[in-house]
Amino acid sequence: MKEKITFLGIETSCDETAAAVIRENENGTADILSNVVSSQINEHKEFGGVVPELAARAHLENIDYIINKSLKDSDITLNEIDGIAATAGPGLIVCLTVGLNIGKSIAAFANKPFVGVNHLEGHALSPGLENKIEFPYLLLLISGGHTQYLIVKDVNDYEQLGTTIDDALGEAFDKTAKMLNLGYPGGPNVEKFSKLGDKNYFKLPEPIINKAGCNLSFAGLKTAVLRESKKINEEDQLRYNLAASFQNTINKILYKKTEIAIKDFKDKTQTKKVRLVVAGGVAANISIRENLSSLGKKLNFETIYPNLKFCGDNAAMIAWAGIKRFKKKLTNTLNISARSRWPLDENAPYMKGPGLKF
Ligand code: KG4
Ligand code: ZN
Repeated sequence: MKEKITFLGIETSCDETAAAVIRENENGTADILSNVVSSQINEHKEFGGVVPELAARAHLENIDYIINKSLKDSDITLNEIDGIAATAGPGLIVCLTVGLNIGKSIAAFANKPFVGVNHLEGHALSPGLENKIEFPYLLLLISGGHTQYLIVKDVNDYEQLGTTIDDALGEAFDKTAKMLNLGYPGGPNVEKFSKLGDKNYFKLPEPIINKAGCNLSFAGLKTAVLRESKKINEEDQLRYNLAASFQNTINKILYKKTEIAIKDFKDKTQTKKVRLVVAGGVAANISIRENLSSLGKKLNFETIYPNLKFCGDNAAMIAWAGIKRFKKKLTNTLNISARSRWPLDENAPYMKGPGLKF
């Protein structure tokens, strides 16, 4: 097989329209030949969250331009590309279909291999764009739709250790921002305003912190933020205190749950050199990074975070996952269709809804 594989990646699973051209280099990491991301912040600002039909329409309007720009920026032609990768799930079907269909059309037209990428695998492998990381590693995947601890054993080989039983962490950040009127997008604003507040001012619940292994829960915390937010009459300092207390509570939860996940990871893999990779949109949060790095110092494991530009949704990570799968001959036919739900560990128990007992 040719040494330096080059892929075009396309991402439209949620509210970012993105395309990128990525080439493997001799260090086993990636040369980013182009990385174009168009965010739909303005489309969804008014509603304080992503509106699927608006998102799909914006993808349709932008996708041709974004793909053309990524090819132009990369300075290479479609002919020089070894394959096309597009996100096939999980996510909003109306959104996924836009990128998936155009990816398949380009692959058919240019007669190139096609890979339908699991968006979560894109996040899981994203640190590899810049750092050569040996398998296995422990992954904390924290995004707008997912919150999971997974053992990454290899490309296409994942074991889930824990997950949220209700809200995703990014969702908890976004809802907190909405309740505190901190603006959209929520996560970065909670982080920004929490710096102005007293993190010990509000005592907030830490759901299932002492049970359920490294599974997580944020619904009770969200309800407590709602209750407190109604009492503070829009007073700025109290809003900042509540944002800071929320961020602090999240840090305490992640500290404890990561400690458990590290132990599980060690027991299951018997790995001497333990690495924790934190990926997904919420991994951009500096306070969470500092918190987990301090746990890493205490327990003697390495912490690895993708560059900020590869934390949020992007197509570089999709092209990269495409290259990795292509090299393992995990390509897809053009019959592949979009999937709204697509766990990385298909054997993991479904952890939502009534009837869960710990
Ligand atoms: O990975 P991502 O871009 O999209 C999904 O796959 O869901 O993650 C988006 C999530 C949003 O909930 C956003 O508010 C959150 O990541 N986020 C943050 C920060 N930056 C983005 N949450 C906390 N602090 C941040 N700095
Ligand atoms: Zn994502």
